[in-house]
Amino acid sequence: MAVYLVTGAAGFIGANYVHHLLASEPDARVVAVDYLGFAGNIANLASVSDLLVFENADIADQDAMAAIYRRHRPDHVVNFAAESHNDRAILDPSAFMRSNALGAQVMAECSRLFSVRSHLHVSTIEVYGELADDRPYFTERSPLNAKTPYSAAKAAGDQMVRAYMATYPDLDIRMTHCANNYGPYQMPEKLIPLAVTNLLRGRKVPVYGDGAQSRDWLHVADHCDAVHRVLHAELDPIPAAAGTDPGLLPIFDISARCEMTNLEIARYICAALDRDPAEWIEHIPDRPNHDRRYLIEPSKIESELGWRPLRDFVEGIAATVAWYVENPCWWQQIISVRGELGFDWSRVGPSAVSPGR
Ligand SMILES: NC(=O)c1ccc[n+]([C@@H]2O[C@H](COP(=O)([O-])OP(=O)(O)OC[C@H]3O[C@@H](n4cnc5c(N)ncnc54)[C@H](O)[C@@H]3O)[C@@H](O)[C@H]2O)c1
Repeated sequence: MAVYLVTGAAGFIGANYVHHLLASEPDARVVAVDYLGFAGNIANLASVSDLLVFENADIADQDAMAAIYRRHRPDHVVNFAAESHNDRAILDPSAFMRSNALGAQVMAECSRLFSVRSHLHVSTIEVYGELADDRPYFTERSPLNAKTPYSAAKAAGDQMVRAYMATYPDLDIRMTHCANNYGPYQMPEKLIPLAVTNLLRGRKVPVYGDGAQSRDWLHVADHCDAVHRVLHAELDPIPAAAGTDPGLLPIFDISARCEMTNLEIARYICAALDRDPAEWIEHIPDRPNHDRRYLIEPSKIESELGWRPLRDFVEGIAATVAWYVENPCWWQQIISVRGELGFDWSRVGPSAVSPGR
């Protein structure tokens, strides 16, 4: 019976992965780690709480994490834990650096010290930076070129994980970069759940600037499937040539090649809830330093691991909207505790004091 240690398990993707894991491997022993920060919500694990052990801990605290590894002796580790909201990163970059960079290193170090069978570091498309309009996409060979506090902190974590890959060949460590996810259990501060929950409360959908920021969208269930595949893939040892060619490292980009602007997303959600976009979408001041475009090419994971996204965007977004419609208690509880979650950058300047976690 394999022991899985999943960090960030009370967040959006981590919780979806825990549900996916327990459904696909009912015998698995799951240790769910989260420090229940701003986006952490233990309710995301409520329906499976009897099937796992929950550890409230900070992944950047090496003593605390070493104690958890010692207690549970994980076979497989998936590190989803990160501070993830670009707007909040502008207000409090230090918290992002701690979780996303130091946390990534501490997790790799604990996996090295406790000789886990495989360790997967979950990263993001955003570490590649902004894609120029005349470029088709990023790949695993693209240089890291992050320019926001969130993505720069993730890129710092990625660099450390790459250093572990190269320096400790006995440690089986892998990494993924995924496109933007949508699906159930996403904190309603992010575009899609914010739009849905606003409309359900008779509020408009806020769209930053002209709404032409373009993103690469993937259903979270397809991401979870890809993560599980990468974690368990039989991979060859890292070749010496990987020192100058990152395409040869055990790094996989994950995408459904579904590029769409934020304005198009807002219109889809209005249509799903039968609202006239002309009346229900409002353009508001953009956040500082907002990346205009991301898109990655998943042909490596497709050809080497046989992964394909299974959810069509139109069906996936309709099912996602339906999930928020059917689970009002879930998001109403968050809003009652956290307050309104949209940002108004005309009032909240980048130098504003952090709301804290
Ligand atoms: N959401 C996306 O579209 C997307 C896309 C690609 C990659 N990712 C990556 O996937 C991972 C999960 O993203 P998400 O959208 O679920 O984020 P999320 O903010 O919903 O969840 C992150 C979770 O990590 C926890 N956490 C943060 N710092 C921690 C720390 N130091 N110790 C313990 N727990 C900590 C938070 O409390 C939260 O529960 C992140 O690494 C993110 O960079 C996200």
